[in-house]
Amino acid sequence: MDQDLGESRRARRRRRSRSAVICGCAVAVLLLVVVVPAVLLGNRTGTFKATFLEKCEKITAESGSPDCVKVWSAFEQAYVGRDPCEVPMEAYDHLISTAPPQPACNRMMFWSKTKDLAHLVSDSCYQTMEDTLLGSVLDGQTWCGKKGSSNTYTSGCPGWTECENNPVKSFWKRGSTEFAAVACGNTTAMLNGSIATPFSSASIFAIEVTQFTSDRMRSLTVIMVTNDVVVSNCTNESLKDLQKELDPGIRYICKEVTESALNTCREVPDTCAPCW
Ligand SMILES: *[C@@H]1O[C@H](CO)[C@@H](O)[C@H](O)[C@H]1NC(C)=O
Ligand SMILES: *[C@@H]1O[C@H](CO)[C@@H](O)[C@H](O)[C@H]1NC(C)=O
Ligand SMILES: *[C@@H]1O[C@H](CO)[C@@H](O)[C@H](O)[C@H]1NC(C)=O
Ligand SMILES: *[C@@H]1O[C@H](CO)[C@@H](O)[C@H](O)[C@H]1NC(C)=O
Repeated sequence: MDQDLGESRRARRRRRSRSAVICGCAVAVLLLVVVVPAVLLGNRTGTFKATFLEKCEKITAESGSPDCVKVWSAFEQAYVGRDPCEVPMEAYDHLISTAPPQPACNRMMFWSKTKDLAHLVSDSCYQTMEDTLLGSVLDGQTWCGKKGSSNTYTSGCPGWTECENNPVKSFWKRGSTEFAAVACGNTTAMLNGSIATPFSSASIFAIEVTQFTSDRMRSLTVIMVTNDVVVSNCTNESLKDLQKELDPGIRYICKEVTESALNTCREVPDTCAPCW
């Protein structure tokens, strides 16, 4: 979003200086009158929607499906015109059925409080929620609607913890639930060993764990990322809570791996055999 703003501001500056040279002062004054207020007010819905469609179309370029305009319309339908604290996760049911996550068996990775490292390590071999179509289009974005308005807003929206049923949190809960429900084969979860409760019942990963089913999933390997100061390891109590929630037909494995080892370990793209 910031990049887009910077981009268009730069483009506008370029345009402005070019016009001034060609047409002189009158046009520059006109541009100040017309363009500046437009910059200040912004067309937020327009920018957000354009970014959404652009990212979506880039991903679906080859398959051509799902139709990104339909995906946008299913997305928007979840929160537009609603109080931004009254968007439950079910509001996204239609979106999820329009663009369901495509599972990559034996290569699915979950994470909790290790987002950056999990994405660094998963790179070309593993699939996280943020690598799915909806996940990658919406990662890092903020959006909400307002009662009585048909617009999408990207500022003035409730924060992650401000209210439970906010549009962003409900999307990630609903999307992750589906991503976890279709998870298959041997899977991995990267947890943070630098905190006291690596498995937190308040996390989205805790919701995901309840969706794992031995009909599809064979094993869950927890990678406990440790640092110089190890706060929690594989014996931590919170992991017992995880195992209690886990379908007993799924094999549970826990490995302690240092952060520096993970930072330097990269899968060989062809085989994708784990490097931890
Ligand atoms: C683990 O959590 C701490 C505290 O929130 C954070 O500083 C650290 O970056 C996290 N570790 C990883 C690997 O993400
Ligand atoms: C999955 O893990 C099991 C051991 O838990 C192993 O025997 C099997 O080969 C693994 N499958 C794949 C596709 O990696
Ligand atoms: C794991 O943590 C426990 C409790 O802090 C500690 O007693 C134990 O030695 C640790 N185990 C390993 C393998 O580091
Ligand atoms: C392990 O988990 C409990 C909570 O489940 C937490 O209070 C504790 O600090 C954690 N770490 C160690 C090293 O015991």
